[in-house]
Amino acid sequence: MLAMACFQKQKTPFICLTILTLVFWLNWVPSVAELQRLEHHGKSDESLGFLVIGDWGRGGLYNQSEIAFQMGRIGKKLDIDFVISTGDNFYDNGLKGVNDPAFQESFTKIYSQKSLQKPWYSILGNHDYRGDAKAQLNPMLRKIDSRWICLRSFTLNTGSADFFFMDTTPFVDVYFTDPEERVYDWRGIYPREIYLNNLLKDLDSALRNSTAEWKIVVGHHAIRSISHHGDTLELIDQLLPVLEMNGVDFYVNGHDHCLQRISCPDNRIQFLTSGAGSKAWRGDDKKHDKCAVHFFYDGQGFMSMQLKSTEAKMVFYDVFGQPIHQWSVSRMLHSEM
Ligand SMILES: *[C@@H]1O[C@H](CO)[C@@H](O)[C@H](O)[C@H]1NC(C)=O
Ligand SMILES: *[C@@H]1O[C@H](CO)[C@@H](O)[C@H](O)[C@H]1NC(C)=O
Repeated sequence: MLAMACFQKQKTPFICLTILTLVFWLNWVPSVAELQRLEHHGKSDESLGFLVIGDWGRGGLYNQSEIAFQMGRIGKKLDIDFVISTGDNFYDNGLKGVNDPAFQESFTKIYSQKSLQKPWYSILGNHDYRGDAKAQLNPMLRKIDSRWICLRSFTLNTGSADFFFMDTTPFVDVYFTDPEERVYDWRGIYPREIYLNNLLKDLDSALRNSTAEWKIVVGHHAIRSISHHGDTLELIDQLLPVLEMNGVDFYVNGHDHCLQRISCPDNRIQFLTSGAGSKAWRGDDKKHDKCAVHFFYDGQGFMSMQLKSTEAKMVFYDVFGQPIHQWSVSRMLHSEM
């Protein structure tokens, strides 16, 4: 429309082109740095503890409140530094705006225990993109609940561990090619190719720069999964090579409503799914033809992780707060692998 009007009025298409190009760049091309940088200064002994929860915001239903209660208990026991949310924060369609009461009803009022009054480092899931995605990213929400730190993609430096939070929803083709009746809020994503390229380049650069003992990448979608959604092919093609090249230790995700730990023969990455914050029990449990599935649980739960410079320990818990799987690795062993 704008282009037509411009070309009809002007006899000199060159001026039109210049103006349009400028408008295009100013409005649509995201700035080159897609990764924002945050720092978290934790305990002085450099140990770090946190919980990971995904796919949760359902007004307390479907065991969300029960899980929240157990998170509070375990959070206190482990003296956690923060909580990580792997996305699909508010069902079914994200937030409607910054004043959507779902923010308090599914977040503030549910995760109310003292030990959970820590920063919640969060990313968006595909359901969050079905609402006003920018509302969740809006710092205004921190006036309602100061714990909420949700960005599209960012690095979090804690000293002994570096975290790399990645916005994985725009990687997945089907949301663009076959959205069905769903409307996604892609503001800030177009042109998609440029957005994704910049993001991957930034991640590669940030990983290369990282000197932390532990490198942990967090995304909403699984790279490896035997549950309902299975592997995400776009991430295997585009994201995984960057993680492999840069010695990433853990890839942590949600999206599939289960708890699982998977490792594969061609790299040292542990693939950890914590996407069981509310609805679960999908009944899917495929076999993996390439990777080893060390643990799979189809029900609700969450994960804790404790890091020291020489040791990492993760635990999965069920809705009763019972540890149902744990695994640890020491740095010495790790570097030999
Ligand atoms: C809540 O958790 C219990 C125990 O795992 C389970 O039996 C029940 O089905 C769960 N409820 C829902 C709605 O998933
Ligand atoms: C990595 O370090 C280089 C050189 O210090 C810097 O220019 C670049 O911005 C850093 N990249 C990221 C993503 O932090």
